[in-house]
Amino acid sequence: MKNSMNKISIIGGAGRVGETTALVIAEQGLCREVALLDVGEGAAEGAAQDIQQSASFFRFDVQVHGGHDPEIIGDSDLVIVTAGSPRKPGMSRSDVLQINRAVIDGIIDQVLQYSPHALLLLVTNPVDALTWHAWKQTGWNRGRVFGQGGVLDASRMANSITQETGLSSKDIQTLVIGGHDDTMVPLFRFSSISGIPVTKFLDPAAIERVDEHTRNGGAEVLALRKTSSAYNAPAAAIATMVDAISHDRKRILPCVCVLDGEYGEREVTVGVPAVLGSQGIERVIELDLNERELAAFRHSLVSIRASIDLL
Ligand code: 2OP
Repeated sequence: MKNSMNKISIIGGAGRVGETTALVIAEQGLCREVALLDVGEGAAEGAAQDIQQSASFFRFDVQVHGGHDPEIIGDSDLVIVTAGSPRKPGMSRSDVLQINRAVIDGIIDQVLQYSPHALLLLVTNPVDALTWHAWKQTGWNRGRVFGQGGVLDASRMANSITQETGLSSKDIQTLVIGGHDDTMVPLFRFSSISGIPVTKFLDPAAIERVDEHTRNGGAEVLALRKTSSAYNAPAAAIATMVDAISHDRKRILPCVCVLDGEYGEREVTVGVPAVLGSQGIERVIELDLNERELAAFRHSLVSIRASIDLL
C-alpha cells in the first residue's frame, strides 16, 4: 500500500518515547524519511544513527537522521511532539503543565516556521490541555492538530482484560474516551471480544479491576521504573495513529480532538473516537452514551477545562 507521507519529524526525538516511536515507524516503513529533533548537541544525531544501524536487521530503507537545529524538521508531512518534562513518581500529568506549555510554545514557533503545512500530533502531557494550546497557537484547521491518549489507554484496557480472562489480545477490542488522566472513561459497553460484549466474560469485580488498571496503567509503570514513564506502549500507540494517517486508512481511533459542538461541547479538547486518515481528524464520532457514561465524560471535561484555564 502506498504511503501518503514522505517525511515525519519527531520533536523530542532523543527522548525514550520519541526514539522508540522513530524505530517503530522506520521498522514499519510508514514514510520515507524520519527527522529527530532534540536539544543538546549529539543526542538526536546519536539516536538516529543507532536506529539507522538496525536497518539491515529489520530490513527497512527509511532514512532516519537527527539534529538540534530546528531546520531539520523542514517540509514534514507530520510532526510528532514528544518533547517535555515527564512525570516523576507521585506526580500527575497536570503537574507538568506549566513546564511543558513553555516547551510547546517554542515548538509551535519552529513548526510554523519550518513545516507550516504539516499535521501536528501531540503526545506531551498533559496531552488534552496541550493539544488545545497547540491548536490555538497554530490557528490551523482543527483536523490538523490532535493528540495521542485513548489509543494507549484502550490498549492498556485490552491488556488488563487479557490478564483477567486469559483470552487472546488479538480478539479484544476496547474503547476509552475522556481525558488522558485519572478521569478517563473506559467504555465497557463499547468493548468486545470477537464481537461478544466484554461483560459476558467479566464479573463486576473484574470490571472494577480492569477499570482501575486502565486508569493507572501509566502510573504503575512509572512507580516500578521510578526514573522513566512508559515508552514502549506509547510508541506503539503513536505508530498506530501514524499508520492510519500514512495509509489513509480512515480508522476509528480514540484521539484527542478539538470539539466544535460534538457531544454538545465546544472550546475544549478531549479523547473521543474519530476517523483518522491522511487529512488528520476527518470526523468526530458521537457515541450514544448512557447517563452514567455521560456523567463520567463530563467529569473528565471539568478536569481538562481546569487545566486549560491554567494555560
Ligand atoms: C502514559 O500514559 C506517559 O502519558 C504517558 O504512559
